[in-house]
Amino acid sequence: MRITETTPKTFMGYVFSLLMSICLMACTEQIDEAKVTQVVPPLPISTVTVLKQAALAMLDSYSADVAKDILQKGGNAVDAAIAAQFVLAVTLPEAGNIGGGGFMMIYKDKKSDFIDYREQAPLSAHRDMYLGEDGEVIPNQSVIGILSSGVPGTVAGMWLAHKKHGSLPWKELLQPAFNLAEEGFKVHPKLAKSIEMYITSLEKRGFEVNFENYFADAKANEIFQQLELADTLKRIRDQGRDGFYKGQTAKIISDFMRQENGLVTEQDLLSYEAKSRQPITAKWRGYQLLTSPPPSSGGIAIIQWLKMYDLMTRDQEKLTHNSAAYMHLLAEIGKRVFADRAEYLGDPDFVKVPVDSLITDEYIAMRSQTVLKHAISVTELVKPGLKESEETTHFSVMDKWGNAVSNTTTINLGYGSGVVVRGAGFLLNDEMDDFSSKPGVANVFGAVGGQANEIQPKKRMLSSMTPSMVLKDGEVSFVTGSPGGTTIISSVYLSILNALEFSMSAEDVVNKPRFHHQLLPKDVIRHHNGIDPAVISELEQMGYTMSNRRFGDMQVILNQDGKVDAASEGNGRGKSIIF
Ligand code: DON
Repeated sequence: MRITETTPKTFMGYVFSLLMSICLMACTEQIDEAKVTQVVPPLPISTVTVLKQAALAMLDSYSADVAKDILQKGGNAVDAAIAAQFVLAVTLPEAGNIGGGGFMMIYKDKKSDFIDYREQAPLSAHRDMYLGEDGEVIPNQSVIGILSSGVPGTVAGMWLAHKKHGSLPWKELLQPAFNLAEEGFKVHPKLAKSIEMYITSLEKRGFEVNFENYFADAKANEIFQQLELADTLKRIRDQGRDGFYKGQTAKIISDFMRQENGLVTEQDLLSYEAKSRQPITAKWRGYQLLTSPPPSSGGIAIIQWLKMYDLMTRDQEKLTHNSAAYMHLLAEIGKRVFADRAEYLGDPDFVKVPVDSLITDEYIAMRSQTVLKHAISVTELVKPGLKESEETTHFSVMDKWGNAVSNTTTINLGYGSGVVVRGAGFLLNDEMDDFSSKPGVANVFGAVGGQANEIQPKKRMLSSMTPSMVLKDGEVSFVTGSPGGTTIISSVYLSILNALEFSMSAEDVVNKPRFHHQLLPKDVIRHHNGIDPAVISELEQMGYTMSNRRFGDMQVILNQDGKVDAASEGNGRGKSIIF
């Protein structure tokens, strides 16, 4: 068994500066061979690959232990992911949730599926809902408080994933989360610290939300119970998706919304549907990338980034990892990627997203023509390219049959809207901020957008969440993902380069310093600690502003030639297990 203690990370949002103090434990254990061979695979043996090992990389020790237990009971990767998702709704209140949404990438029996359980705008939402009479964006309204929440999608998403791919009974998957809420769990000192800081930050800014009433008692190393949440989880355990979207929970949510002047009604809850979508696939080197389609912006972005990188480096020696030349080239590409994101991407059920056109080799070749290897392109001149008219959580699981899940889930910023549904005990998201409140005005993550991502009833807000996998000859060789708003996209494509261009171990993939550039703010490269100071000065001399602000919390699994490796990023309180 291998346990690693780690240092705290910092997540700075536009509205909040929240120190997320987390600890990582990674351990490797031997499996009991006898137990494993007793398990009857849920598939005809000819269609499955039996690996010697299963692996997972989870956001905390509770979710890791429960996911491992589910896999050892014979559950598949999807079962483990569902159980972990509900555990995180109890033990990781800053991001784990039933009041938010996310995306789940599944590769099972050699077939892929993508469960979109993103939140959507309430029926009474409208394009200008966050604009004041002067036509300007009302500060903070889309990021804190009752009006910032979209209709939650998590329970519907887990239900759909279970219906399509689960093998153990739903109730069995919900029971661990219920127990942890009812009996309580021991609060990690980093979680206690993060809650304390969040409460202070709410007070300082004069935000009146009820977060403190529910979480002030979560003290380091003490048992913390959440009895209202336990009752809600019990209804979900016993009634499935109806235990959230209908009956008592739906009534509690909609009554609360009415009392607090919120927007989500019974009708919003009843009409919410999780959707199964076709993942985006692309050939890259000898691999197949399996990544997130709209309403995620991440899949298109990482394919553009990786393909343009290859094109720009094909006639030269391999660039040194995290050298100035490497960071500059990827920042240059990022300018183009984010210009396209702002113009073309939105909910595909509302706007026509030209996915195929944005990732063709011809388009990538055309786009790369203006990339400058030794100077910075003028930001204002980088336009969308087609010619025509900080808290989320990610985890990865792989079972011994080679099935895998890459799941990113969020309530947006740490602790979401700061509002707990009175009587139901869960935090609501502040995901409405991911819409473009006004064309050209940046959201919390500095992302701008236009018509494609404007608010409309029932529309899903554009996301950067990018749960992804890389396949080789039909087998999963890499499972990756991260939180971090728009920086998610950089974490994901850089992790692919770390793993497959630089052949790093899983530990190095998640812990080597990363960087991010997204067109706006102009010529700013955000980076982790640990980039060589000489590289930083070289980039500054080129004209970049270097901003040292940590981002992300990667959870990855590498499966190379049957050798499984997994890691949780060292700044968090994650735990990875290979067994
Ligand atoms: O969907 C998105 O892109 C954002 N709501 C994700 C938020 C996030 O990653 C915050 N984490 N640090």
